[in-house]
Amino acid sequence: MATTLVLVTSALLAFTLAAQYKDGEKVLMYVNKVGPYFNPHETYHYYQLPVCRPAKIEHKSLTLGEVLDGDRMAVSMYELDFKTNVEKKSLCKVSFSETDLQLLRDAIEDLYYFEFVVDEIPIRGFIGHLEEGGFLPHTHKIYLWAHLHFNIEYNGNQIIFANVSTKEQPPVSLDNINVPVEVAFTYSVKWHETNLKYEERMKRVRDSGFFPKTLEIHWLSIINSMVLVFLLIGFVVIILTRILKSDFARYNMDEEETEDMDQDDNGWKIIHTDVFRFPAYKSLFCAILGVGSQFLALATGILLMAMMGMFNVHRHGSINSAAVILYAFTSCISGYVAANIYRRMGGDNWVWNINLASTLFAAPFFLVWCVVNSVAWGYGTTQALPWTTVVLLMALWIFVGYPLTVIGGIFGKNWATSGFDAPCRTKNIAREIPSVPWYRSGFTHCIIGGFLPFSAISVELYYIFATVWGREQYTLYGILFIVYAILLSVTACISVALTYFQLSAEDYRWWWRSIFSAGSTGVFVFLYALFYYFKRSNMSGFLQGVEFFGYTMLSCYVFFLMLGTAAFFSSLQFVRYIYVNLKMD
Ligand SMILES: *[C@@H]1O[C@H](CO)[C@@H](O)[C@H](O)[C@H]1NC(C)=O
Repeated sequence: MATTLVLVTSALLAFTLAAQYKDGEKVLMYVNKVGPYFNPHETYHYYQLPVCRPAKIEHKSLTLGEVLDGDRMAVSMYELDFKTNVEKKSLCKVSFSETDLQLLRDAIEDLYYFEFVVDEIPIRGFIGHLEEGGFLPHTHKIYLWAHLHFNIEYNGNQIIFANVSTKEQPPVSLDNINVPVEVAFTYSVKWHETNLKYEERMKRVRDSGFFPKTLEIHWLSIINSMVLVFLLIGFVVIILTRILKSDFARYNMDEEETEDMDQDDNGWKIIHTDVFRFPAYKSLFCAILGVGSQFLALATGILLMAMMGMFNVHRHGSINSAAVILYAFTSCISGYVAANIYRRMGGDNWVWNINLASTLFAAPFFLVWCVVNSVAWGYGTTQALPWTTVVLLMALWIFVGYPLTVIGGIFGKNWATSGFDAPCRTKNIAREIPSVPWYRSGFTHCIIGGFLPFSAISVELYYIFATVWGREQYTLYGILFIVYAILLSVTACISVALTYFQLSAEDYRWWWRSIFSAGSTGVFVFLYALFYYFKRSNMSGFLQGVEFFGYTMLSCYVFFLMLGTAAFFSSLQFVRYIYVNLKMD
């Protein structure tokens, strides 16, 4: 418990204590990771390359967020003293074998960059240089940057900014050389005075941009889509209220009048003895609602926290670790909601129900994670979690997530009001359901119910993908929150409309239908992910592909659970409302 608390605070802490240095004091530089420029989630430890390595590698302890981000920091051999310039100084000499050379050549061909860290500031540069030119004869030359020049900006006794320049000295050619070859690595350091404040330094880091900034927010298209969505919601609400008004007028007419209008006695009124007939697979149904409610709460919470600036925007990991921890602590919601509805629907196997609710997301997550992590292990990347982190995450689920689900479930079961308090009685014998034309089939409903919410967020999806799967930093959480609210309102509106159409076709099986018709948004998001991966990003390779599709599938599953739940609850409200207002004979 104490460790988790420390983790929560360290993960959520957006700022760290400002380090102060005396003149000439030793400044630690850490080497972190290397990886292909275009694959943000394929990173390796710097010392996996044949570079200058200290005799004993000392690792820095990291926060959960940093570990999830693929950081693995170790002390470097560069000697930095505060405000002391260093002219070209030798770091070490490395003698390359043929395998070492091949490793370096492959890395440079894949545009590997390295990342060092000085006083929390990431310093990035390319490890080599690729020169391709001439059509005939085609030249293809590979160079290694053996000299690094560090620029460090300071203000008073604090470090404000740091970067590295590789181009101060000509690079070493790696072509046509006879092994073993000895390469001398050197470095130099220059300290610059600046009057930038310590508080502004992260902005300075963000603007310095080693990675391309392509994220221009297209305000016009965002506003455009929002206006369209509001119009859509408005139309649905207006039309539905008008139709309902005329329905009520028709159904609630006096007896005598109804007699000479029997031909009108169809539509949703006549299924009032069936509309509250509980669906098949009750337990699974309730578990979906439970986990869906948990994710609705989780997403709302994370967005609110992000808007209040509680995360370090430079590290995705700080949001990831907060999500993991909050997931465990909000598990009580899924247990409570699932067991409560299950009991009210008359279910009696509540133990099974709670277990289902607690594994409905955790099991697929564990499965996907196992596959991704095994592949990452196979590649030896730093994206593979070390076993201590794995044990910690397991413990978090076993000692926090699961028990909270059970506790929530017990409360949910015991506090459940008896019965579903349905406004109409359900008959024992089910009515026959008339067949419907194709445009009213479940499949069509799923397409409409998935496509409309998807199109409401499609403009923003690009930014979200570019943030999660690229190097972008999406700091406009306010917009994200509005988009989230719009997504939920559209989902609620569409599912109410679709439920109305289904009931007026005298089909009373709206329970599962409402979940699937809105939940199918997840399928559309996945289709968009395919498009993004192949057309909008430069990611490549098996490892990055497995990570991308594994975690995207999980996110789409979360979309399904969340939107399905929102859709069901709004449909339930709607169905209750129309049948309460119906005068029953
Ligand atoms: C690195 O920092 C120095 C000093 O602040 C600056 O003059 C230089 O342009 C920077 N180089 C790069 C590549 O950003």
